[in-house]
Amino acid sequence: MKQANSIYLDHAAGTFLLPIVQDYIASQVYKKTGNPSSIHGVGRLASASLDKSRQEVASSIGCMSGEIIFTSGGTEANNLALGGIAKGLKKQGRHIITCRTEHPSVLESCKQLESEGFSVTYLNTNSFGRIDLNELRASITDDTILISLMWVNNETGLIHPVKDIADLARIRNVKFHCDAAQVLGHLPIQIKNLGVDAMTFSSHKIGAPSGLGVLYLRKGTVLSRQLHGGAQEGNLRAGTQNLIGATAFAKAIRYQVDHIQEHHGHYRTLMDQLQNQLSNIPGIQINRDTGEYSPHIVNCSFQNIDGEALFIRLDMKNISVSNGAACSSGSQKPSHVLTAMGLDEKLSQASLRISLGLETSEDEIDKFCHELEYIVHSLQRGNP
Ligand SMILES: Cc1ncc(COP(=O)(O)O)c(C=O)c1O
Repeated sequence: MKQANSIYLDHAAGTFLLPIVQDYIASQVYKKTGNPSSIHGVGRLASASLDKSRQEVASSIGCMSGEIIFTSGGTEANNLALGGIAKGLKKQGRHIITCRTEHPSVLESCKQLESEGFSVTYLNTNSFGRIDLNELRASITDDTILISLMWVNNETGLIHPVKDIADLARIRNVKFHCDAAQVLGHLPIQIKNLGVDAMTFSSHKIGAPSGLGVLYLRKGTVLSRQLHGGAQEGNLRAGTQNLIGATAFAKAIRYQVDHIQEHHGHYRTLMDQLQNQLSNIPGIQINRDTGEYSPHIVNCSFQNIDGEALFIRLDMKNISVSNGAACSSGSQKPSHVLTAMGLDEKLSQASLRISLGLETSEDEIDKFCHELEYIVHSLQRGNP
Protein backbone atom coordinates (compact mmCIF):
# COMPACT_ATOMS: atom_id res chain seq x y z
CA MET A 1 0.00 0.00 0.00
CA LYS A 2 1.00 3.57 -0.71
CA GLN A 3 2.44 5.66 2.18
CA ALA A 4 0.70 8.90 3.12
CA ASN A 5 2.15 11.98 1.35
CA SER A 6 3.95 9.82 -1.16
CA ILE A 7 3.60 9.84 -4.92
CA TYR A 8 3.77 6.41 -6.48
CA LEU A 9 4.40 6.43 -10.22
CA ASP A 10 6.03 3.02 -10.62
CA HIS A 11 2.97 0.91 -11.45
CA ALA A 12 4.77 -0.89 -14.28
CA ALA A 13 7.05 -2.39 -11.61
CA GLY A 14 4.13 -3.44 -9.44
CA THR A 15 0.69 -1.97 -8.90
CA PHE A 16 -1.61 -2.10 -5.86
CA LEU A 17 -4.01 -4.97 -5.21
CA LEU A 18 -7.42 -4.33 -6.73
CA PRO A 19 -10.21 -3.97 -4.12
CA ILE A 20 -11.96 -7.07 -5.52
CA VAL A 21 -8.73 -9.00 -5.08
CA GLN A 22 -8.29 -7.73 -1.51
CA ASP A 23 -11.85 -8.84 -0.68
CA TYR A 24 -11.30 -12.22 -2.28
CA ILE A 25 -8.02 -12.87 -0.42
CA ALA A 26 -9.57 -11.73 2.89
CA SER A 27 -12.45 -14.17 2.32
CA GLN A 28 -10.00 -17.07 1.91
CA VAL A 29 -7.88 -16.59 5.01
CA TYR A 30 -9.85 -18.94 7.28
CA LYS A 31 -10.94 -21.39 4.60
CA LYS A 32 -9.58 -24.92 4.58
CA THR A 33 -8.16 -25.67 1.16
CA GLY A 34 -6.46 -28.82 -0.12
CA ASN A 35 -4.07 -29.65 -2.93
CA PRO A 36 -5.64 -29.66 -6.42
CA SER A 37 -3.68 -32.84 -7.27
CA SER A 38 -5.17 -34.89 -4.38
CA ILE A 39 -7.86 -37.29 -5.49
CA HIS A 40 -10.03 -37.10 -2.33
CA GLY A 41 -13.01 -34.79 -1.95
CA VAL A 42 -11.04 -31.81 -0.56
CA GLY A 43 -8.54 -32.12 -3.39
CA ARG A 44 -11.31 -32.40 -5.98
CA LEU A 45 -12.84 -29.18 -4.65
CA ALA A 46 -9.47 -27.44 -4.97
CA SER A 47 -9.05 -28.82 -8.47
CA ALA A 48 -12.53 -27.61 -9.48
CA SER A 49 -11.70 -24.16 -8.15
CA LEU A 50 -8.44 -24.09 -10.13
CA ASP A 51 -10.28 -25.22 -13.28
CA LYS A 52 -12.78 -22.41 -12.79
CA SER A 53 -9.95 -19.87 -12.59
CA ARG A 54 -8.31 -21.34 -15.66
CA GLN A 55 -11.59 -21.00 -17.57
CA GLU A 56 -11.97 -17.43 -16.34
CA VAL A 57 -8.48 -16.51 -17.59
CA ALA A 58 -9.12 -18.22 -20.93
CA SER A 59 -12.49 -16.59 -21.54
CA SER A 60 -11.09 -13.17 -20.55
CA ILE A 61 -8.24 -13.28 -23.06
CA GLY A 62 -9.95 -15.28 -25.80
CA CYS A 63 -8.42 -18.75 -25.80
CA MET A 64 -9.23 -22.27 -24.51
CA SER A 65 -8.70 -23.21 -20.88
CA GLY A 66 -6.40 -26.09 -21.89
CA GLU A 67 -4.07 -23.46 -23.36
CA ILE A 68 -3.41 -21.78 -19.98
CA ILE A 69 -0.37 -22.77 -17.89
CA PHE A 70 -0.08 -21.20 -14.43
CA THR A 71 3.50 -20.36 -13.43
CA SER A 72 5.28 -18.51 -10.61
CA GLY A 73 5.44 -15.26 -12.60
CA GLY A 74 6.24 -13.59 -15.90
CA THR A 75 9.90 -14.57 -15.58
CA GLU A 76 9.09 -18.26 -15.32
CA ALA A 77 6.54 -18.01 -18.15
CA ASN A 78 9.20 -16.43 -20.39
CA ASN A 79 11.80 -19.02 -19.38
CA LEU A 80 9.31 -21.81 -20.04
CA ALA A 81 8.33 -20.43 -23.44
CA LEU A 82 11.89 -19.83 -24.65
CA GLY A 83 13.53 -22.93 -23.18
CA GLY A 84 10.50 -25.17 -23.66
CA ILE A 85 9.73 -24.32 -27.28
CA ALA A 86 13.40 -24.17 -28.38
CA LYS A 87 14.23 -27.53 -26.80
CA GLY A 88 10.96 -29.05 -27.98
CA LEU A 89 11.77 -28.09 -31.58
CA LYS A 90 15.53 -28.57 -31.59
CA LYS A 91 15.34 -31.34 -34.19
CA GLN A 92 13.78 -28.86 -36.63
CA GLY A 93 16.29 -26.05 -36.09
CA ARG A 94 18.35 -24.15 -33.55
CA HIS A 95 17.95 -20.49 -34.45
CA ILE A 96 15.96 -17.99 -32.36
CA ILE A 97 15.22 -14.31 -33.03
CA THR A 98 14.62 -11.72 -30.35
CA CYS A 99 15.43 -8.05 -29.80
CA ARG A 100 17.93 -6.10 -27.68
CA THR A 101 15.17 -4.29 -25.78
CA GLU A 102 13.42 -7.40 -24.40
CA HIS A 103 12.99 -8.06 -20.68
CA PRO A 104 16.00 -9.75 -18.99
CA SER A 105 13.93 -12.92 -18.48
CA VAL A 106 13.87 -13.31 -22.28
CA LEU A 107 17.44 -12.13 -22.93
CA GLU A 108 18.94 -14.32 -20.20
CA SER A 109 16.93 -17.33 -21.43
CA CYS A 110 18.43 -16.68 -24.87
CA LYS A 111 21.95 -16.53 -23.42
CA GLN A 112 21.34 -19.83 -21.66
CA LEU A 113 20.13 -21.38 -24.91
CA GLU A 114 23.23 -20.07 -26.71
CA SER A 115 25.36 -21.88 -24.14
CA GLU A 116 23.44 -25.05 -25.04
CA GLY A 117 24.15 -24.80 -28.77
CA PHE A 118 21.32 -22.60 -30.07
CA SER A 119 22.08 -19.45 -32.04
CA VAL A 120 20.26 -16.19 -31.36
CA THR A 121 19.80 -13.08 -33.52
CA TYR A 122 19.28 -9.95 -31.38
CA LEU A 123 17.48 -7.42 -33.57
CA ASN A 124 18.61 -3.81 -33.32
CA THR A 125 16.09 -1.02 -32.91
CA ASN A 126 15.89 2.57 -34.05
CA SER A 127 16.49 5.38 -31.56
CA PHE A 128 12.97 4.96 -30.13
CA GLY A 129 13.18 1.18 -29.71
CA ARG A 130 11.23 0.19 -32.82
CA ILE A 131 12.29 -2.89 -34.75
CA ASP A 132 12.33 -2.99 -38.55
CA LEU A 133 9.99 -5.71 -39.83
CA ASN A 134 12.13 -6.05 -42.97
CA GLU A 135 15.15 -6.80 -40.78
CA LEU A 136 13.07 -9.36 -38.90
CA ARG A 137 11.93 -10.94 -42.18
CA ALA A 138 15.52 -11.05 -43.47
CA SER A 139 16.75 -12.66 -40.24
CA ILE A 140 14.53 -15.72 -40.61
CA THR A 141 16.48 -18.68 -42.00
CA ASP A 142 15.59 -22.32 -42.62
CA ASP A 143 17.05 -23.03 -39.17
CA THR A 144 14.78 -20.53 -37.35
CA ILE A 145 12.32 -22.14 -34.95
CA LEU A 146 11.24 -19.31 -32.66
CA ILE A 147 10.72 -15.55 -32.56
CA SER A 148 10.28 -13.92 -29.14
CA LEU A 149 9.27 -10.26 -29.15
CA MET A 150 7.38 -8.33 -26.50
CA TRP A 151 4.12 -6.43 -27.05
CA VAL A 152 4.58 -3.39 -24.75
CA ASN A 153 8.10 -2.45 -23.69
CA ASN A 154 8.26 -2.20 -19.89
CA GLU A 155 10.69 0.75 -19.89
CA THR A 156 9.32 2.93 -22.68
CA GLY A 157 5.72 1.77 -23.22
CA LEU A 158 6.47 1.30 -26.94
CA ILE A 159 4.11 -1.11 -28.73
CA HIS A 160 5.44 -3.70 -31.16
CA PRO A 161 3.16 -4.67 -34.09
CA VAL A 162 2.29 -8.09 -32.70
CA LYS A 163 -0.27 -9.07 -35.35
CA ASP A 164 2.19 -8.26 -38.18
CA ILE A 165 4.95 -10.24 -36.45
CA ALA A 166 2.59 -13.19 -35.92
CA ASP A 167 1.60 -13.13 -39.61
CA LEU A 168 5.22 -13.01 -40.67
CA ALA A 169 6.17 -15.90 -38.36
CA ARG A 170 3.25 -18.04 -39.52
CA ILE A 171 4.10 -17.62 -43.22
CA ARG A 172 7.65 -18.86 -42.48
CA ASN A 173 6.41 -21.66 -40.20
CA VAL A 174 8.24 -20.22 -37.18
CA LYS A 175 6.73 -20.18 -33.66
CA PHE A 176 6.07 -16.77 -32.12
CA HIS A 177 6.21 -16.11 -28.38
CA CYS A 178 5.18 -12.67 -27.13
CA ASP A 179 5.87 -11.25 -23.67
CA ALA A 180 2.66 -9.37 -22.84
CA ALA A 181 3.42 -8.74 -19.14
CA GLN A 182 2.69 -5.00 -19.53
CA VAL A 183 -0.41 -5.36 -21.71
CA LEU A 184 -3.39 -6.50 -19.62
CA GLY A 185 -5.54 -3.57 -18.55
CA HIS A 186 -3.99 -1.31 -21.19
CA LEU A 187 -4.63 -2.87 -24.61
CA PRO A 188 -7.53 -5.13 -25.63
CA ILE A 189 -6.52 -8.78 -25.98
CA GLN A 190 -8.24 -11.48 -27.98
CA ILE A 191 -5.56 -14.12 -28.38
CA LYS A 192 -7.37 -16.11 -31.03
CA ASN A 193 -7.32 -13.06 -33.35
CA LEU A 194 -3.61 -12.42 -32.88
CA GLY A 195 -2.12 -15.65 -34.18
CA VAL A 196 0.61 -15.94 -31.52
CA ASP A 197 1.79 -19.37 -30.36
CA ALA A 198 2.69 -18.40 -26.81
CA MET A 199 2.09 -15.34 -24.66
CA THR A 200 3.28 -14.33 -21.17
CA PHE A 201 1.31 -12.52 -18.45
CA SER A 202 2.32 -11.41 -14.95
CA SER A 203 0.05 -10.93 -11.93
CA HIS A 204 1.45 -7.92 -10.04
CA LYS A 205 1.20 -5.63 -13.06
CA ILE A 206 -2.58 -5.77 -12.89
CA GLY A 207 -3.53 -5.72 -9.22
CA ALA A 208 -3.15 -9.37 -8.21
CA PRO A 209 -0.52 -10.56 -5.70
CA SER A 210 2.98 -10.98 -7.12
CA GLY A 211 4.36 -14.43 -7.80
CA LEU A 212 1.85 -15.59 -10.39
CA GLY A 213 2.18 -15.83 -14.12
CA VAL A 214 0.34 -17.32 -17.04
CA LEU A 215 1.80 -18.78 -20.18
CA TYR A 216 -0.74 -19.07 -22.97
CA LEU A 217 0.40 -21.95 -25.20
CA ARG A 218 -1.52 -22.51 -28.40
CA LYS A 219 -3.00 -26.02 -28.56
CA GLY A 220 -0.60 -28.38 -30.34
CA THR A 221 2.53 -26.27 -29.74
CA VAL A 222 5.42 -28.55 -28.79
CA LEU A 223 6.91 -27.63 -25.39
CA SER A 224 9.61 -29.41 -23.44
CA ARG A 225 8.94 -29.07 -19.71
CA GLN A 226 11.50 -27.03 -17.79
CA LEU A 227 10.58 -27.97 -14.20
CA HIS A 228 10.72 -31.66 -13.37
CA GLY A 229 8.39 -33.27 -10.89
CA GLY A 230 4.66 -33.90 -10.84
CA ALA A 231 2.29 -33.87 -13.79
CA GLN A 232 0.59 -30.55 -12.94
CA GLU A 233 -0.46 -28.06 -15.63
CA GLY A 234 -1.03 -30.67 -18.31
CA ASN A 235 2.36 -32.23 -17.50
CA LEU A 236 4.06 -29.05 -18.73
CA ARG A 237 4.89 -27.30 -15.43
CA ALA A 238 5.57 -29.38 -12.33
CA GLY A 239 4.78 -28.10 -8.84
CA THR A 240 1.68 -27.56 -6.71
CA GLN A 241 -0.25 -24.58 -8.00
CA ASN A 242 -0.82 -21.40 -5.98
CA LEU A 243 -4.58 -21.84 -5.76
CA ILE A 244 -5.54 -18.60 -3.99
CA GLY A 245 -3.08 -16.66 -6.14
CA ALA A 246 -4.36 -18.18 -9.39
CA THR A 247 -7.95 -17.36 -8.44
CA ALA A 248 -6.99 -13.81 -7.47
CA PHE A 249 -5.10 -13.45 -10.77
CA ALA A 250 -8.10 -14.75 -12.74
CA LYS A 251 -10.38 -12.25 -10.99
CA ALA A 252 -7.95 -9.40 -11.70
CA ILE A 253 -7.69 -10.34 -15.38
CA ARG A 254 -11.49 -10.48 -15.71
CA TYR A 255 -11.82 -7.10 -14.00
CA GLN A 256 -9.17 -5.45 -16.16
CA VAL A 257 -10.63 -6.84 -19.39
CA ASP A 258 -14.20 -5.86 -18.47
CA HIS A 259 -13.19 -2.28 -17.60
CA ILE A 260 -10.66 -1.64 -20.34
CA GLN A 261 -12.56 1.21 -22.05
CA GLU A 262 -13.09 3.17 -18.87
CA HIS A 263 -9.52 2.55 -17.66
CA HIS A 264 -8.10 3.51 -21.04
CA GLY A 265 -9.84 6.89 -20.74
CA HIS A 266 -8.33 7.37 -17.27
CA TYR A 267 -4.81 6.54 -18.44
CA ARG A 268 -5.09 8.60 -21.65
CA THR A 269 -6.22 11.72 -19.80
CA LEU A 270 -3.45 11.42 -17.21
CA MET A 271 -0.79 10.59 -19.79
CA ASP A 272 -1.73 13.66 -21.88
CA GLN A 273 -1.51 15.83 -18.75
CA LEU A 274 1.82 14.25 -17.75
CA GLN A 275 3.39 14.68 -21.18
CA ASN A 276 2.20 18.29 -21.43
CA GLN A 277 3.62 19.19 -18.05
CA LEU A 278 6.88 17.27 -18.61
CA SER A 279 7.47 19.02 -21.92
CA ASN A 280 7.72 22.35 -20.07
CA ILE A 281 10.76 21.22 -18.06
CA PRO A 282 13.96 22.69 -19.55
CA GLY A 283 16.50 20.12 -20.82
CA ILE A 284 14.01 17.23 -20.90
CA GLN A 285 13.99 14.67 -23.70
CA ILE A 286 10.84 12.54 -23.89
CA ASN A 287 11.91 9.20 -25.31
CA ARG A 288 9.07 8.59 -27.75
CA ASP A 289 8.16 9.13 -31.37
CA THR A 290 4.69 9.65 -32.84
CA GLY A 291 4.00 5.90 -33.07
CA GLU A 292 1.96 3.72 -30.72
CA TYR A 293 2.56 3.55 -26.95
CA SER A 294 0.73 2.03 -24.03
CA PRO A 295 -0.97 4.87 -22.12
CA HIS A 296 0.58 3.91 -18.78
CA ILE A 297 4.33 4.29 -19.36
CA VAL A 298 6.50 7.22 -20.45
CA ASN A 299 10.27 7.48 -20.40
CA CYS A 300 12.24 10.72 -20.32
CA SER A 301 15.85 11.84 -19.86
CA PHE A 302 17.55 14.99 -18.63
CA GLN A 303 20.62 16.53 -20.22
CA ASN A 304 23.50 17.64 -17.97
CA ILE A 305 22.15 16.17 -14.78
CA ASP A 306 23.62 13.64 -12.38
CA GLY A 307 21.13 10.74 -12.50
CA GLU A 308 21.99 9.50 -9.01
CA ALA A 309 21.38 12.93 -7.46
CA LEU A 310 18.05 13.14 -9.30
CA PHE A 311 16.89 9.84 -7.80
CA ILE A 312 18.05 10.68 -4.32
CA ARG A 313 16.21 14.02 -4.44
CA LEU A 314 13.00 12.38 -5.74
CA ASP A 315 13.21 9.66 -3.12
CA MET A 316 13.67 12.24 -0.36
CA LYS A 317 10.35 13.71 -1.49
CA ASN A 318 8.72 10.25 -1.26
CA ILE A 319 8.33 10.06 -5.02
CA SER A 320 8.61 6.56 -6.49
CA VAL A 321 9.57 6.31 -10.13
CA SER A 322 11.95 3.95 -11.85
CA ASN A 323 15.18 4.44 -13.75
CA GLY A 324 14.41 1.51 -16.00
CA ALA A 325 13.12 -1.97 -15.26
CA ALA A 326 12.60 -2.54 -11.54
CA CYS A 327 14.81 -5.60 -11.61
CA SER A 328 17.76 -3.53 -12.83
CA SER A 329 17.14 -0.60 -10.51
CA GLY A 330 19.59 -0.37 -7.66
CA SER A 331 22.40 -1.47 -9.92
CA GLN A 332 24.49 1.28 -11.43
CA LYS A 333 24.34 -0.26 -14.90
CA PRO A 334 22.54 1.92 -17.44
CA SER A 335 19.32 0.47 -18.81
CA HIS A 336 19.97 -2.02 -21.63
CA VAL A 337 16.82 -0.72 -23.36
CA LEU A 338 17.98 2.90 -23.43
CA THR A 339 21.48 1.77 -24.43
CA ALA A 340 19.99 -0.21 -27.33
CA MET A 341 18.14 2.97 -28.33
CA GLY A 342 21.49 4.76 -28.52
CA LEU A 343 21.40 6.87 -25.34
CA ASP A 344 24.85 7.35 -23.83
CA GLU A 345 25.60 6.15 -20.30
CA LYS A 346 25.17 9.55 -18.63
CA LEU A 347 21.84 10.25 -20.30
CA SER A 348 20.54 6.73 -19.57
CA GLN A 349 21.37 7.19 -15.93
CA ALA A 350 19.55 10.52 -15.89
CA SER A 351 16.37 8.89 -17.25
CA LEU A 352 13.06 8.15 -15.60
CA ARG A 353 10.35 5.63 -16.30
CA ILE A 354 7.09 7.08 -15.04
CA SER A 355 4.20 4.65 -14.97
CA LEU A 356 0.57 5.23 -14.04
CA GLY A 357 -1.95 3.11 -12.18
CA LEU A 358 -5.67 3.06 -11.57
CA GLU A 359 -5.24 5.08 -8.37
CA THR A 360 -3.08 7.78 -9.97
CA SER A 361 -4.79 11.19 -9.89
CA GLU A 362 -4.42 14.49 -11.75
CA ASP A 363 -3.33 16.07 -8.49
CA GLU A 364 -0.55 13.52 -8.06
CA ILE A 365 0.72 14.17 -11.61
CA ASP A 366 0.62 17.90 -10.95
CA LYS A 367 2.58 17.65 -7.69
CA PHE A 368 5.08 15.27 -9.26
CA CYS A 369 5.76 17.56 -12.23
CA HIS A 370 6.24 20.57 -9.96
CA GLU A 371 8.68 18.71 -7.70
CA LEU A 372 10.52 17.29 -10.70
CA GLU A 373 10.85 20.68 -12.35
CA TYR A 374 12.17 22.19 -9.12
CA ILE A 375 14.72 19.40 -8.59
CA VAL A 376 15.89 19.39 -12.21
CA HIS A 377 16.24 23.15 -12.19
CA SER A 378 18.31 23.13 -9.00
CA LEU A 379 20.53 20.27 -10.25
CA GLN A 380 21.06 22.12 -13.53
CA ARG A 381 22.32 25.10 -11.51
CA GLY A 382 24.81 22.80 -9.82
CA ASN A 383 23.04 22.33 -6.45
CA PRO A 384 23.19 18.62 -5.55
C1 LIG B 1 7.77 -7.03 -19.89
C2 LIG B 1 8.04 -7.86 -18.68
N1 LIG B 1 8.29 -9.16 -18.83
C3 LIG B 1 8.51 -9.97 -17.79
C4 LIG B 1 8.49 -9.49 -16.50
C5 LIG B 1 8.77 -10.42 -15.36
O1 LIG B 1 7.59 -10.70 -14.65
P1 LIG B 1 7.65 -11.20 -13.12
O2 LIG B 1 8.12 -10.05 -12.32
O3 LIG B 1 6.22 -11.63 -12.85
O4 LIG B 1 8.58 -12.34 -13.07
C6 LIG B 1 8.22 -8.14 -16.28
C7 LIG B 1 8.26 -7.56 -14.92
O5 LIG B 1 8.92 -6.58 -14.65
C8 LIG B 1 7.99 -7.30 -17.40
O6 LIG B 1 7.73 -6.00 -17.26
